[in-house]
Amino acid sequence: MVVLLDQTRLPVEEAELVCADVPALVAAIRSLAVRGAPVLGVAGGYGVALAAARRFDVAEAAEQLAHARPTAVNLAYGARRVEAAYREAAGGGAAHAAARALAAARELHREDAEASARMAGHGRELLAGLVPGGGLRILTHCNTGRLVSGGEGTALAVVKAVHRAGELRRLWVGETRPLLQGSRLTAYEAAEAGMAYSVLADGAAGSLFAAGEVDAVLVGADRIAADGSVANKVGTYPLAVLAGHHGVPFVVVAPVTTIDPDTETGSGIEVEQRAAHEVTVGPGPGSGPAGAGGGPALAPVGAHAYNPAFDVTPSALVTAVVTDEGTASPVTAAGIAELCSTSRKR
Ligand code: MRU
Repeated sequence: MVVLLDQTRLPVEEAELVCADVPALVAAIRSLAVRGAPVLGVAGGYGVALAAARRFDVAEAAEQLAHARPTAVNLAYGARRVEAAYREAAGGGAAHAAARALAAARELHREDAEASARMAGHGRELLAGLVPGGGLRILTHCNTGRLVSGGEGTALAVVKAVHRAGELRRLWVGETRPLLQGSRLTAYEAAEAGMAYSVLADGAAGSLFAAGEVDAVLVGADRIAADGSVANKVGTYPLAVLAGHHGVPFVVVAPVTTIDPDTETGSGIEVEQRAAHEVTVGPGPGSGPAGAGGGPALAPVGAHAYNPAFDVTPSALVTAVVTDEGTASPVTAAGIAELCSTSRKR
């Protein structure tokens, strides 16, 4: 089985969610019990290994997992990679192929932790150059820390490295409506790490920039197109516009596995649309994400809602893309292609 930390219960409780089969794991992915691009890849990989161990139809399992959510490219990458390992070993018998699938999932998991450490190093280097003098005030959005990774994460791994070096003055945590990945999850990790942090309503970001309180914006990504456009949690694009207007560096941190060379431009990225109740109904008593716990009505009954899970930021608004293979800045199609080719050479 695949055992997950159920992120919908945080920060109220740290509860495990046991997925005994692929449909349970697909449901966990859709409900955001496990979420965030890199760990979706790892979960997809373990899901395929689980199907192999149980002698289920591995191709069907990989298909279901790859399509459980459409935007984060890592999910399909993880599922397909473990499926390929299984297929290559199939000639040696089912038990042998299942063992190879599990080994491939574990390898993916380990690689993600290593990528996270490399991103932290590259990101810290970049920030040292971008905002001289230390004492950084960093604004982040959604959750990009250890909850989404085999290691310390992506953007939040950089923040953690800056914090450990004594160079973080404050982490500004956008709450990230509607499912509050910022206030529920990033604030939980910031508190755990002993950072000075403040949670803000998403709509408060503009006045924070206007007050000159932000030195850099650091976010993750769910998919980076070949032209450097970045799909990330809804609310990222407005932060990039604000950062551009105020002359603040806007930095995207993601592993190269989040780059999708087959998607040429941002308009080719499929953005997941989610249920209206996530916007119109509040969190239930005690725990759980907005809309899932029978909480109070936040809009009249039957209200329609616009609820895209992600938005797309054009490369012109992105100061740098920091990956485990290095940094592209300025962000151009050539720079993104170079990062991918470096990764293929490894
Ligand atoms: O809907 P979610 O919570 O899965 O969205 C996650 C994000 O948008 C993250 O910012 C992104 O996956 C990067 S995580 C390293």
